[in-house]
Amino acid sequence: MCGIFGIVTATERRLGGILLSAGRRLAYRGYDSVGAATIDRPGRIDLRKDVGKIDAVNARLHLDEMEGERGIVQLRWATFGSPSYENAQPHLDSDGDLVGAHNGNIVNNVQLREEFIRAGMTVRGTNDGESCVHAVERYVDQGLPMTEAIRRAARDLQGDYAFVIASKDERDEAGRPVIHAIKMGSGLVVGLGDGFACVSSDLPSVLPLTNRIVRIRDGEMVTLHPDRVEIRRVEDGALIEREVETFTEGMDAAEKGGYPHFMEKEIHEQPKVAADLIHLLTASPHVAPFLDDLESARHVYFVGCGTSYHACLIGAAYFNRIAGIPAVGILAPQFTETIARTLGPDDAVVFVSQSGETKDVLSAVNAARPRGARILGVLNVLGSALMHASDHYLPLACGYEISVPATKTFLNQVILFLYLADRLRREGRPIDWPRVPVLIGETLAATDAAAKQVAELLNPHSEMYYLGYGLTLGTAMEGALKLKEITYAHCEGMLSSEFKHGPLSAVHDGYPVVFVSAPDDAAMMVNHVNEVTCRGGRAIVVAAADELLGKNASDYITLPDAGHDLTALISVLPLQLVSYYMSLARGIDPDFPRNLSKTLTVD
Ligand code: AGP
Repeated sequence: MCGIFGIVTATERRLGGILLSAGRRLAYRGYDSVGAATIDRPGRIDLRKDVGKIDAVNARLHLDEMEGERGIVQLRWATFGSPSYENAQPHLDSDGDLVGAHNGNIVNNVQLREEFIRAGMTVRGTNDGESCVHAVERYVDQGLPMTEAIRRAARDLQGDYAFVIASKDERDEAGRPVIHAIKMGSGLVVGLGDGFACVSSDLPSVLPLTNRIVRIRDGEMVTLHPDRVEIRRVEDGALIEREVETFTEGMDAAEKGGYPHFMEKEIHEQPKVAADLIHLLTASPHVAPFLDDLESARHVYFVGCGTSYHACLIGAAYFNRIAGIPAVGILAPQFTETIARTLGPDDAVVFVSQSGETKDVLSAVNAARPRGARILGVLNVLGSALMHASDHYLPLACGYEISVPATKTFLNQVILFLYLADRLRREGRPIDWPRVPVLIGETLAATDAAAKQVAELLNPHSEMYYLGYGLTLGTAMEGALKLKEITYAHCEGMLSSEFKHGPLSAVHDGYPVVFVSAPDDAAMMVNHVNEVTCRGGRAIVVAAADELLGKNASDYITLPDAGHDLTALISVLPLQLVSYYMSLARGIDPDFPRNLSKTLTVD
């Protein structure tokens, strides 16, 4: 979590605009607080930070007006220490000679703070980013150069993290300023431009400045000069040669393209990203070895968190139903604690993560690897930790997903699983793949107005249920998560047949329950709908036109006729729209819901 960005330039200039733009692009990683620091030529540090989102903090503190040769900006998602001024990053060392900011978790933060306080250092807050700065300070005070001090500090810091740090008086042999960064488990990329070098938690914040990219790996540190970078191995300080890559992918995806929110833009990109993925899968040589591993496995597990976990539930259901391969979808931490203990070399585990950086998922990979199981990755972010950890991986081909609520990446996860299951199909009619992107576009168009109405009728309620059955369980759970995430209402997603075993007691006059049904389950679903309506509840059905369901439902979002397997896929589309419209009705910014982060790199 958190986003960091640092830049060093050959000449002093107004760096504030660059820091602000980079910070806005990193805002999806955390927005509890924001801070920026610049260092000018005489070595004066200007530090401005506060609690709140970047534009609000900028309006108060004028980050965009900051000047200097070096700059750092940090967007925080709070883990260690409450969101406060003291805990906002960047942090200074005791004497105000060093300034730095981190991303990740320092798990021995409490012990380190005690050591620093005992040593007489000025510890201002409780945030672990501050501990990174003091850890370096301890060795700088012993007279070590910055690169050596950072290396030594890394031995003291436990956890997964990256940080950027600068010393106000440090200049290279040519008299030019430098900044440093280190990668120990969190993302870090470097950009090289004309007269500047920058470093960031992610690529989209670097690409508007330069497309010349240097990727930093775990266990490496980098010193940035305005015209070059030096990469060192943290372990022994040895210099490492690394090629500069020229990145050609466009940045359109990071812009809103006329939509008021990234979420709406990303929802409407779904026909296109679906077509891109289907095209990629049809042509990719990586699909065959992936399928071989799945087909020959003793057990298959689909492992993920949050939205990706919901896709795993549907993926496992497809494998059982269509391919006749026993498969189980399971949450990553639960997998680590249970299944991972009994895994064997004949098992295959599909790890699913949009970001490819989710700590819970990477920990599950680490638990599976020593048992010899095949590690298969499904991810959206190329170059992510999951990509490197996988024996084989398949990309989701969605482009950047900026909005915190996942939409297009969920859809493509489900498409990818359906595609793989379809390739291993034992019986039944294969999927008409060229039709799928068209169907997605038709569903969005056909359900938009009804989704808006359902959002209006749900809005007065602070709690509700979303129920699915069989294939649509994962869809209902995903719809419920989307609603919780961006409306702050409580919404439970569960199996419709399970509702009578307890939650039914919540139903009273007008109590809303949304049912998501695929065609073959309609008759069963009618029973579950009636259990709610006969007690005064309001049953909102999301399904293709069905006479029985239609007669029993209170409200209906009618899906295009897509057949059983594809209904699980397309039914998520109106649920995304319902959440989006309800979020707007509640005055919530759906792109940046409170307390959340797009990339959760902590346990
Ligand atoms: C989805 O809307 C959420 N932002 C969240 O549940 C997310 O899916 C989860 O944190 C997993 O992320 P990943 O796919 O990047 O691993």
